[in-house]
Amino acid sequence: VSLRVLHTSAPSSVAEAGAVVPTAADDDGRRGALRELYAPPSATWLRLNLIAAVSGDAAGEDGTSDTLSNDVDRAILAVVRELADGVVVGAASVRAEGYRVPRSSRLVVVTSSGDLSGHRMDPERAERVVVVCPASATDEVARTLGPGVASAATVLVVDDVEGRVAPDALLRRLREHGLLSLVCEGGPSLAGQFLRDGLVDELCLSTSPVVIGSGLPVFGRERFDPSRLTLSQLLMDDQSALYARWLVDARPATSR
Ligand SMILES: NC(=O)c1ccc[n+]([C@@H]2O[C@H](COP(=O)([O-])OP(=O)(O)OC[C@H]3O[C@@H](n4cnc5c(N)ncnc54)[C@H](OP(=O)(O)O)[C@@H]3O)[C@@H](O)[C@H]2O)c1
Repeated sequence: VSLRVLHTSAPSSVAEAGAVVPTAADDDGRRGALRELYAPPSATWLRLNLIAAVSGDAAGEDGTSDTLSNDVDRAILAVVRELADGVVVGAASVRAEGYRVPRSSRLVVVTSSGDLSGHRMDPERAERVVVVCPASATDEVARTLGPGVASAATVLVVDDVEGRVAPDALLRRLREHGLLSLVCEGGPSLAGQFLRDGLVDELCLSTSPVVIGSGLPVFGRERFDPSRLTLSQLLMDDQSALYARWLVDARPATSR
């Protein structure tokens, strides 16, 4: 599968408009060109990385993002993960998609209920699992993680209002814990809360060449004010999928 640069605001050896980007991993399992294309501009950073159909849906016909994705999308996802200290996901995505622990970064799961059943976390990688939840959820977290993972995972208790943790308090807690560069992979409801509260620095959005009525909008159902975005990079593969990096402008869109 080939991947081409359509636009970049930071031309370099790998990133000139028209350049073909190698996506295969080398002997070290690294994808050097993609790492350069996706390097975050600052050590403290919050990215969202999701995939949507052209219709704005976060799920394909199987009810998960799996059927929207392809090998290039998965290669980019792996690189964006590698470049982050922590991969943040909502518990419903863990239950729906089974989530594994990434190869190098931490997996941060946010839950109100503590129910992480259906996870596929390898006990050998459990030291890189971080669960953020209210105090009321810790027993259920331990039960549903199972003893192999729960014994080595870190549980960060954050103050809650009726079981919900405030997104800015959640980020503060993770950064106190040394996780500065974060990528939130969703799901839509968690991603939407970070956008609503103006906490996101960048959106990495893959667009899958399909329209579908899944009933699951990619940034959730909450209403929030607009934020202005600037396109910093756009890639396209030979299956018509697009991969954008959008920077979130610091000023609120309504102040222009
Ligand atoms: N297109 C994509 O890129 C993509 C990415 C990921 C997932 N998905 C799909 O999206 C769907 C799941 O997404 P979703 O939006 O329904 O759910 P989600 O965001 O994955 O998870 C929501 C859950 O996270 C926990 N949570 C969220 N905000 C919280 C807060 N402020 N405080 C405490 N806990 C909080 C709660 O867990 P509890 O329920 O445990 O209390 C909540 O029910 C699945 O179909 C999945 O396949 C798509």
